[in-house]
Amino acid sequence: MTYTPKILLVTGAAGFIGSNFVHYWMDAYPESKVIGLDALTYAGNKENLVSLSQNNNFTFVHADILDTDKVEKLLQDNNVDTLVHFAAESHVDRSIHGPDAFFKTNIEGTHSLLKAAKKVWLDQGITDHRFHHVSTDEVYGTLAPDAPAFTETNQYLPNSPYAASKASSDHVVRSYHHTYGLNTTISNCSNNYGPYQFPEKLIPLVIANCLDGKSLPIYGDGQQIRDWLFVDDHNRGIDLILHNGKIDNTYNIGGNNEWANIDIVNVICELMDEHHPVGAPHNQLITYVKDRAGHDRRYAINASKIMNELGYKPQETFETGIRKTVQWYMDNEQWWRRIMDGSYKTWLDKNYE
Ligand code: NAD
Ligand code: TYD
Repeated sequence: MTYTPKILLVTGAAGFIGSNFVHYWMDAYPESKVIGLDALTYAGNKENLVSLSQNNNFTFVHADILDTDKVEKLLQDNNVDTLVHFAAESHVDRSIHGPDAFFKTNIEGTHSLLKAAKKVWLDQGITDHRFHHVSTDEVYGTLAPDAPAFTETNQYLPNSPYAASKASSDHVVRSYHHTYGLNTTISNCSNNYGPYQFPEKLIPLVIANCLDGKSLPIYGDGQQIRDWLFVDDHNRGIDLILHNGKIDNTYNIGGNNEWANIDIVNVICELMDEHHPVGAPHNQLITYVKDRAGHDRRYAINASKIMNELGYKPQETFETGIRKTVQWYMDNEQWWRRIMDGSYKTWLDKNYE
């Protein structure tokens, strides 16, 4: 039976995917109410939500998911029926340099939300609710070049502290369904790209560095493969799961779009040659740097389950999605420059020293 989310609490709403999700949702369902919660860590940017500041159906709350009492009160006072959980520490490289924050936010933070949801919904007999947990394909570990893509039944074999923290959080979510009966769903998605992605991740970093004539750092041999999905195609998948996903089910979301890192960087360089010609090809900026520790070689998603059960189909091809993305970063230079000017600088020095 179809479930209709009416009042949503979206955690991580000022981050990359969370903010895109809020925009997507308010466009698709303008009558629903959304409370966007975010602790505004280095990765959270209220500017991502500024166009919604006059929308009476959207409220932003500056809060930490670890503050269970506050989350409980938000759920209770606003009659929230649907929690969509994006908030996380999300950058693999940062998890290598400082794993503590990942275990704290991603595991304890998820548990804090589950406790609040249990108290407000289950302990008061509210059965019409959903807790959707947004997770990653990185929980499945790495694939050999010719291995079949990840399905929902693959063993969890996380390799980075980030992936391990997300894998653990998936298990905690599952336990709250099996032990207490919370209506949970989980999605494990491949690498996203699109507007508002923090320029420490590969695609926005490469676009920004091309515009600034800076080197384009390629870890190791650049032959690592990722399965890239335009961010709103991720959001469309979550939308389908919220409405028609089966409780206690996991859905892989992906777009059958595997690329080696070096090839992605070359595609971006060609687009930059077209849109931002500087006399020399941008791929001259490519610089091979030290490989990431424990670098997963290949991720690939088998999205047959969500396609067959829920009718999912990505709308963007990589060609259309990457063009839109490059254009967005060119049109919104102020957005990423303000980030690059700030604390991001110290991170760059540390990671690429
Ligand atoms: P992001 O780092 O851009 O955003 C995370 C947001 O969470 C930020 O706004 C940050 O301020 C907020 N946050 C962090 N700690 C918090 C806390 N304790 N309390 C409240 N808010 C907090 O990350 P993203 O790329 O948008 O990823 C969102 C979710 O999607 C994550 O759970 C991530 O694991 C998952 N995911 C991401 C990708 C990807 O390619 N980016 C792919 C699959 C799954
Ligand atoms: P990233 O965007 O950090 O996502 P994830 O680690 O979650 O897949 O990295 C994507 C790929 O690009 C990954 O294989 C690491 C690689 N990479 C580089 O080669 N150079 C860089 O400067 C960055 C940030 C990533």
